Amino acid sequence: MPFRALNHASCKTYLADAEGDHAAALIDPMPDHLDRYIAMLAYFGCRLEMIIDTHTHADHRSGANELAELTGAPVVMHRLAPAPHVSIHVEDGQPLKVGDEEIRVLHTPGHTPDSISLLAGDRVFTGDVLFIHGTGRADFAGGDAGSQYDSITRKLFTLPDEILVFPAHDYRGHTQSTIGDEKRSNPRLAGKTRDDYVNLMNNLGLPLPDGIQESLQPNQSDVEAGALKFPTLSQLNEVRQLTAAELRDRIASSNPPVLIDVREEREYRGELGHIAGARLIPLKELPERTAELAEAKSRGVVAICRVGVRSATAAAILTGLGFERVWNLKGGMIEWKDAQLSVERDSDH
Ligand SMILES: [Fe+2]
Repeated sequence: MPFRALNHASCKTYLADAEGDHAAALIDPMPDHLDRYIAMLAYFGCRLEMIIDTHTHADHRSGANELAELTGAPVVMHRLAPAPHVSIHVEDGQPLKVGDEEIRVLHTPGHTPDSISLLAGDRVFTGDVLFIHGTGRADFAGGDAGSQYDSITRKLFTLPDEILVFPAHDYRGHTQSTIGDEKRSNPRLAGKTRDDYVNLMNNLGLPLPDGIQESLQPNQSDVEAGALKFPTLSQLNEVRQLTAAELRDRIASSNPPVLIDVREEREYRGELGHIAGARLIPLKELPERTAELAEAKSRGVVAICRVGVRSATAAAILTGLGFERVWNLKGGMIEWKDAQLSVERDSDH
């Protein structure tokens, strides 16, 4: 399968092009280059089969949603990706067909919970988990240095040494490496224990990227910054969390909370279903619909979404609007489903 790196800057976009039938996949498209991607696809006579984001980007806007709208190609991300525009959710080990070729998904969390690497023939696209002689940071957007170490050492480093490594970023002009090179000489990993790595990553002392919430929040929610006043990181950090089991118990109590589901209607009525009695109020409509939540002042309110990310934003917004008893369903409908708790679907009615 031929591959091309399309951006000659620190953010990398890759085109995977199955020979013969000219089916193609674009990995991590940037919003500023969509015209160029479409022109290149046309020039090479490729049909765009899918757009893959290796993770929810925090340091720049993703071009995936807009490119999907322009081309009709589906957006592929891990099942823990929070955004509503994802049309194919994938899991560890899942094969993706691009024409006659296959790309295999490896779930490699750590930089974010939804980070995937993509194994395609002689190479692996490692997103922001493993860089060339570096690793992606693990201190924002649900990152976890310990699981990043596990993803790299137990998954990526079990691939053959000669597999080529292509990360989503490179800040130092490297273009490629191999699994063997990274095992031997990656300064963050070679000779380091898991504890060493966690200590190192937790003490990098890097400032947060400029405008992180302005990129992250729209990437997570498909709501533009102009359409909603997004909460700050410290407001988000103050949101109280309920596990699926805790919420189940509160729903069964004598004074159950008001439940609001802040996903899009298509998701609310879709495969994951929704919790019985949860009211659909999509995140972007929340500020103008708080009048519907008068009883939440006495009963309390729990915000719900797919993975607990958009709903944390909703909970922080409600707190900012003066609601005092607000919780977020941690892990969202994915954890609710994994806990095998009951849901309603449209087909139940
Ligand atoms: Fe990233």
